[in-house]
Amino acid sequence: MKPVKVGLLGLGTVGGGTAVVLQRNAEEIARRVGRSIIVDHIATLDLGRVDELGLNPSIRATQQASDVVNDPEIDIVIELIGGYSPAKELVLEAIENGKHVVTANKALIAMHGTEIFAKAQEKGVIVAFEAAVAGGIPIIKAMREGLAGNQIEWLAGIINGTGNFILTEMRDKGRAFDDVLAEAQALGYAEADPTFDVEGIDAAHKLSILSSLAYGIPLQFEKTYTEGISKITAEDVENASELGYRIKHLGIARRTDRGIEQRVHPTMIPEKQLIANVDGVMNAVLVQGDAVGPTLYYGAGAGDEPTASAVVADIVDVARALTSEPDNRVPHLAFQSEAIADIAILDISEIETAFYLRICVQDQSGVLADMTKILADNGINIEAITQKDVNQNQVNIIILTHVVREGNMNQAITSLEQLEAVTGEVSRIRVESLS
Ligand code: HSE
Repeated sequence: MKPVKVGLLGLGTVGGGTAVVLQRNAEEIARRVGRSIIVDHIATLDLGRVDELGLNPSIRATQQASDVVNDPEIDIVIELIGGYSPAKELVLEAIENGKHVVTANKALIAMHGTEIFAKAQEKGVIVAFEAAVAGGIPIIKAMREGLAGNQIEWLAGIINGTGNFILTEMRDKGRAFDDVLAEAQALGYAEADPTFDVEGIDAAHKLSILSSLAYGIPLQFEKTYTEGISKITAEDVENASELGYRIKHLGIARRTDRGIEQRVHPTMIPEKQLIANVDGVMNAVLVQGDAVGPTLYYGAGAGDEPTASAVVADIVDVARALTSEPDNRVPHLAFQSEAIADIAILDISEIETAFYLRICVQDQSGVLADMTKILADNGINIEAITQKDVNQNQVNIIILTHVVREGNMNQAITSLEQLEAVTGEVSRIRVESLS
């Protein structure tokens, strides 16, 4: 059978890894697909990379991405440039030219997936994006196919390796936030703009994709509540540990009677949970299905070859499906496009969770009574309370609450911050049992 010819856009960390894996494992891949997959055309600003990576010198290389997108020889375009533009224009042009597309670009899918999938459907081509979420973990395949018999009750994922690396190093080695971030950047894990990692934007891109796959809803990155890890202090990390919890930066999607929770924020989870022990740059996604119960997916969420593993798996999938009727393929967002439902995404004030509060107060009588009254007035039930000295005059009050609606907690925090004895802002971390 004729080989499948692929064109690569981008030969950076993931592009380089993909070309190398395709070349190294060519024989095994051909046995799986039933025909060879050949990298035939590469667009890269640094033409020397082809040689540097030891790629076949007969591969055509160009500095113009449009040369690849408009190359009639190419069956599948692999977009590994990242970012919104020109990735979006190139992907749409490739689809317009009748080419299938594989991309690792979470920002692109989260922001422009609806338009891209509609265009792909019109042209009868596939857009595959396994590498966009949790790097090498086949979570999209699991959600779209392996769990297709389930109603997904909730999912919770550590889906940003850089953030997880920072929290792990802060906890284990007491290292400073900025120092660990610099190391993640040097290792090639961090986004070009590292605020995407630390402020949760990268995780929100990925969560909005997972949530759509779980509930058959449109991609709604803009409705994802997004809070980063930059306000987490070494003290919070230590307090969590003393209480039997770990702080993880989680993306959570949950179906409720009132709508869907779609939120990214630091979360305290019991240390006995397997996912609480996912450390360093590793990713994990815990999915609760009504039939299967909990399933946990763990692996490398970034890096050249781990991400290439997902990209190549997509190429294999597309190559196997080349001769199938478009209507018989797995739908882009797991549900048939005409069955995508408009279910409300809940505002963060509507979600229900337990809380950890850290409140710095003047060490004087009656303060605790004032505070607990405010919590009680807002229907907040206290699970545990403890006090730690800050200095001679001030103490930190640490409170764990039972589950409460976030709107009630917001009101309570506003009232707490108005107390004369409370110095500074109240720190809060949402607490989830994940059971
Ligand atoms: N910056 C991302 C991370 C890369 O740290 O997880 C993979 O998407």
